[in-house]
Amino acid sequence: MASPSTVLITGILGQDGSYLADHALRLGYHVLGGIRGEPTPDRTWRLRHLGIHEQVSYIPFDLGNADSIHTALRQSQPNLIFNFAAQSSVGDSFKMPVQTAESGGMGALHIFEYARTADHPCRVFQASSSEIFGDITDSHHSEDSVFNPKTPYGATKLFAHIMAEAYRASYGTHVSTGILFNHESPLRGGNFVTKKITKSMVAVKQGRMSSFSLGNLDARRDWSHAKDFVDAMWRMLQLDQPDNFVLASGQLTSVREFVNLTAQALDMKLDWQGTGTEERGVDTKTGRTIVQVNPEYYRPYDPAQPLADVRKARRLLNWSPKHSLTDLIQDMVRFDLSHDI
Ligand code: GDD
Repeated sequence: MASPSTVLITGILGQDGSYLADHALRLGYHVLGGIRGEPTPDRTWRLRHLGIHEQVSYIPFDLGNADSIHTALRQSQPNLIFNFAAQSSVGDSFKMPVQTAESGGMGALHIFEYARTADHPCRVFQASSSEIFGDITDSHHSEDSVFNPKTPYGATKLFAHIMAEAYRASYGTHVSTGILFNHESPLRGGNFVTKKITKSMVAVKQGRMSSFSLGNLDARRDWSHAKDFVDAMWRMLQLDQPDNFVLASGQLTSVREFVNLTAQALDMKLDWQGTGTEERGVDTKTGRTIVQVNPEYYRPYDPAQPLADVRKARRLLNWSPKHSLTDLIQDMVRFDLSHDI
């Protein structure tokens, strides 16, 4: 029987999993990472960066394989499960809809089923996404807004989200969901736009790159620091009643403005010239083009993100974010200036 304070984290090698592991270890919990494959140095860099790799135990866990999930859970008997593992790129979900659905949808369901049938108390956090909203239907989107996803990723996340509600209503299972708007950090993967921007702008500043390309510069997102979200997720599982919570900052910023803020953090300034695919960001000091538009990075469907209503999380979780967008960008830039990851 595992100790009464075992936390199992799926997706522990990713951004949220790593910060959550750090949070749980600081609180004295035993942290188990459910992973597919080996914990090789190139895959565990985030945990190593946080200095916690040695404190984490690993267990084989394949979200695409029901037997692997149930075996891992029966062996480890966790009291808290944080389910982050999934194909997490909306962009990639257009290229691999089936794998996205299998890991993100059925994988989550097997975890809920374990929590329902376990002979010990087991609470689950499920990472939902703002992608489940799809089209904008309200001035501010809350836990009660209409869900109408249009991307394979959003549809998968909605399946798991509604299953979590069904398990709560049908069986009283303690599953909470965080409807997560975008959350970033120095540990963000380079396939997401924020990391691509900070990393590329730092490379330009250091003379290692002359320019880089982005897709939709007008896309607006609500970006928060992942550390703030991890704090809120932990609070969710401390509540007696499981529930759904929107996590966001409540502020939308365009990709173009994120580039400007990154430039500012690097003591640079860009002048935007041209429109559409001809638009480019020119360094006002050197006159060189740093940012171009490449339609290859456009998505088949790129819904506008709604404004978030975060009042419920602030009230019931007694939570408020500690980092502003400027803090987040400075944190990312500081990291990228001294690491090439
Ligand atoms: N990745 C990427 N690369 N996105 C770009 C680029 C580019 O070169 N240029 C513009 N964008 C735009 C995308 O079209 C999108 O509108 C926006 O930047 C943000 O893209 P991502 O950083 O890839 O994040 P996302 O919003 O699609 O998804 C993230 O947030 C969701 C929550 O809202 C992921 O973290 C999801 O897992 C998460 O659920």
